[in-house]
Amino acid sequence: MTRGRAHAKVILAGEHAVVYGQPAVAMPLCTVSCDVTIADSPDGLTTFVADAFPGRYLAGAEQHPLSFMEDLLDTLFREELSRWGVVSNDADGRHPPLTVTIGSDIPIGAGMGSSAALLVAATRALFAHFGIHPPDSEIQRLAHAAEMVVHGRSSGLDVAASVSSGPILFTTDSPTRQLRVGAPFDLLIARSGLQSSTRDVVLGVLERRKLEGPEIDALFAQMGDVSRLLADAIERGDLSAMGRLMDRNQSLLSSLGVSCPQLDRLVVAAREAGALGAKLTGAGRGGCIVAMVEPVLGHAVRRALVAAGAIEVYECQVSPTSRPLGKLQ
Ligand code: PMV
Repeated sequence: MTRGRAHAKVILAGEHAVVYGQPAVAMPLCTVSCDVTIADSPDGLTTFVADAFPGRYLAGAEQHPLSFMEDLLDTLFREELSRWGVVSNDADGRHPPLTVTIGSDIPIGAGMGSSAALLVAATRALFAHFGIHPPDSEIQRLAHAAEMVVHGRSSGLDVAASVSSGPILFTTDSPTRQLRVGAPFDLLIARSGLQSSTRDVVLGVLERRKLEGPEIDALFAQMGDVSRLLADAIERGDLSAMGRLMDRNQSLLSSLGVSCPQLDRLVVAAREAGALGAKLTGAGRGGCIVAMVEPVLGHAVRRALVAAGAIEVYECQVSPTSRPLGKLQ
């Protein structure tokens, strides 16, 4: 039996704009993760089991919530493993019968990168099953290709953050910049409880851009500036600049129409309780907000978020001495 693990992620700036070529800042949320185990099937049938969905799903069965995992397995087996010389393309190109078990702490539809983490973890587990440990860049490439199928359109930011060991400045058409952390800070990620579909929100933004091209592109350009400045502020350890930039990003996201009253309420509560900055994170119209706090104020801000309706609050401590987590298999 082999195991693959991957983290949730949080976007600190640049969501949506990143789909249109602007940079974004994101990082892994190391306390929340997804585990996939793969074993040879005892009964000759490929099945999927996930704690998020009751029951056991048989490969090839009528549409089931994990059917996209079958496509990933097929692609990896047919196109990738043969490149590594581990399997020869057999007559029908089918993978051997496997039992795939998914355990995840990452809430679905909360803007925390649950599908990216699942695809990264599954890719790692499957390669490991065949005794291969490719570099993270390969894992990232394959998981991103699979995510394009799930989300319809995806910048690759979620997958890049999920395989990273610290904050990154990500752009679709240039190499990812790993950011140094100049001073410690805490992030609180508060879940509104409102589910949202990344695919739908991204499509909504696409429609709006079709109608109001230049205005929307101007918003994206400003979001891109925020991301670049935020990356520099993280490296300088300038916490107040970081907070201001997150606030600025939130007002741009509101202008884009992807915030909502529940998220606005959490953002305001965090700021009033002393957060240095707060914004929605992910696609928006539900999901989570992220607040940056000085460690000493963490408890007060957490209490304020719960009082304002957060159903869960995750904490992430980011420090200059954080070591890369290595490969999580
Ligand atoms: O998957 P989410 O909800 O965290 O959103 C991903 C970020 C977007 O910029 C909205 C989409 C993308 O492909 O980058």
